[in-house]
Amino acid sequence: MTLKRIPALLATLPLALSAALAATPAEPIQPIPAAKPGNPAMVELGKKLYFEPRLSKSGVISCNSCHNLSMGGTDNLKTSIGDHWKQGPINAPTVLNSSMNLAQFWDGRAKDLQAQAGGPIANPGEMAFSHGLAVEFLSSIPGYRAEFKKVFKQDAITIDEVTKAIAAFEETLVTPNARFDQWLKGDKKAITADELAGYKLFKDSGCVACHNGPAVGGNSFQKFGIVSPYKTANGAEGRSGVTGKDADRFNFKVPTLRNVELTYPYFHDGEAATLTQAVDTMGRLQLGRQFSDVENAKIVAFLKTLTGEQPHITLPILPPSTDATPRPHP
Ligand code: HEM
Ligand code: HEM
Repeated sequence: MTLKRIPALLATLPLALSAALAATPAEPIQPIPAAKPGNPAMVELGKKLYFEPRLSKSGVISCNSCHNLSMGGTDNLKTSIGDHWKQGPINAPTVLNSSMNLAQFWDGRAKDLQAQAGGPIANPGEMAFSHGLAVEFLSSIPGYRAEFKKVFKQDAITIDEVTKAIAAFEETLVTPNARFDQWLKGDKKAITADELAGYKLFKDSGCVACHNGPAVGGNSFQKFGIVSPYKTANGAEGRSGVTGKDADRFNFKVPTLRNVELTYPYFHDGEAATLTQAVDTMGRLQLGRQFSDVENAKIVAFLKTLTGEQPHITLPILPPSTDATPRPHP
């Protein structure tokens, strides 16, 4: 790809990003690396906690309720439903490959997965528990006490250990070996002619200015609505809520497009029900380009080649509550 083929408006992108693009040796997207091998006992504990509904006030909501690993690590809802069936304000991003994000949440307010993991447990609109109650619950169960002790080598369970274990599990949730990765590694038959044409459109029209790298995104904050403003009733203003800077209004983390076929609906407000719609909006608002139906379909076909091998999960069996365990409050 040559830089001059990227529309001039992308000159407004941060210098570092333009430089990164100019320096791109071959393809702007790279194969996804395999997961770093974690501490197996910690990962196994983190998996239990990820599937643990008793970390919520109601006793029915776990991380997996909103980041369902049977459905691309999302809930496939416009915006998530939390405690007391309350609909939240924002769309749940996938946890798949989330370890590759430069920061967590649409506005990047958590610096990494561990910092993120404490949020939902105590969020009244999500699991509506508290860190104190989480520790009390876990400490009341001998099975958990033993497992925490084995992993962290101390008697008292802390919230820091809880979030650390969950993050260790999440780091295993990578999806390698998508058909597009096979193509990148030299198997020219791994994608069809239409899918390849879609990739060329994706590159040449400038989508790769923001969606690049192994995760095809996740590595910068960008303004949503560059050519024309994004109109939404959602009210989220993105990154400015974190930095307090007016220049960051409507800057959102560029989502990864890995597994995007599975993670509908799209955008922070979940307003785009289909990939066709999301691609159309991106073309118009980010690049000032109206794709024809045929072009749009090719890009969508390309995006579907980014679906990787989903994590193989053996459903964890959770240790039972004891007489001392606090009961749920639905
Ligand atoms: C965001 C993990 C529970 C809904 C995230 C992100 C991660 C994550 C890693 C950031 C992803 C990214 O920015 O790309 C977890 C874990 C949970 C949990 C480990 C359990 C401790 C839940 C629950 C719900 C939920 C129960 C729904 C009730 C959301 C939403 C966001 C989000 C709506 C986006 C929020 C925003 O960006 O402002 N979660 N999650 N999560 N999660 Fe969860
Ligand atoms: C979101 C595709 C160009 C920045 C998305 C999504 C798709 C997509 C499918 C939704 C992902 C999800 O919600 O999980 C494309 C295509 C492009 C393109 C096909 C080329 C036509 C760009 C460019 C930029 C950009 C050039 C940056 C200038 C973003 C941002 C979001 C996003 C910030 C999140 C918006 C939000 O919901 O707040 N893109 N993209 N995209 N893209 Fe693009």
